[in-house]
Amino acid sequence: MSKQPRITILFVCLGNICRSPLAEGVFREVLREKGQEHLFEIDSAALGDWHVGQPPDPRSVAAAWRHGLDISGQKCRQVNPEDFRHFDLIFGMDRDNTRRLQHLAPPDTRGRVHLFLEYALGRPEEVPDPYYEDEESFEAVYRMIREASEALAERLAERALSVCRSGQASSTT
Ligand code: 4NP
Repeated sequence: MSKQPRITILFVCLGNICRSPLAEGVFREVLREKGQEHLFEIDSAALGDWHVGQPPDPRSVAAAWRHGLDISGQKCRQVNPEDFRHFDLIFGMDRDNTRRLQHLAPPDTRGRVHLFLEYALGRPEEVPDPYYEDEESFEAVYRMIREASEALAERLAERALSVCRSGQASSTT
């Protein structure tokens, strides 16, 4: 029996404790609202190794919680070479993240790496690093990620439908 096909998406930032865990949680929530969670595999990872094994930053957990989302169960991990083969779309939160991912990616997988807001919203903007900032910055990051996640789900709707159809086809053969 073949495995249910899925669109695989990896969100990446520097530490995987502030921005990318929020993106993972918020995008999953947007998919849940659309009844499409089962069509995607979502994960997040860090470029640096400082926080591996740790839960998200309490300020990101609090920002998510203010919007009814619990991301406290996530755990930081670092990007690894297999990620570039496994994930269809790999999103850097800022330009530096994206540049570093492009550099790490085997050449034939570089096309999978994108700047998140640019891909989702068509605007060449970054999700700025809030690590040394205040609570309002985390709130602003949440809002950017929510807007981009809704747009991303729209952008991938067609692809999700074809994944859904191929899953139905393989489950009946
Ligand atoms: P993130 O934020 O990349 O959004 O998770 C940061 C978290 C930790 C550090 C920098 C940015 N740090 O330097 O430890």
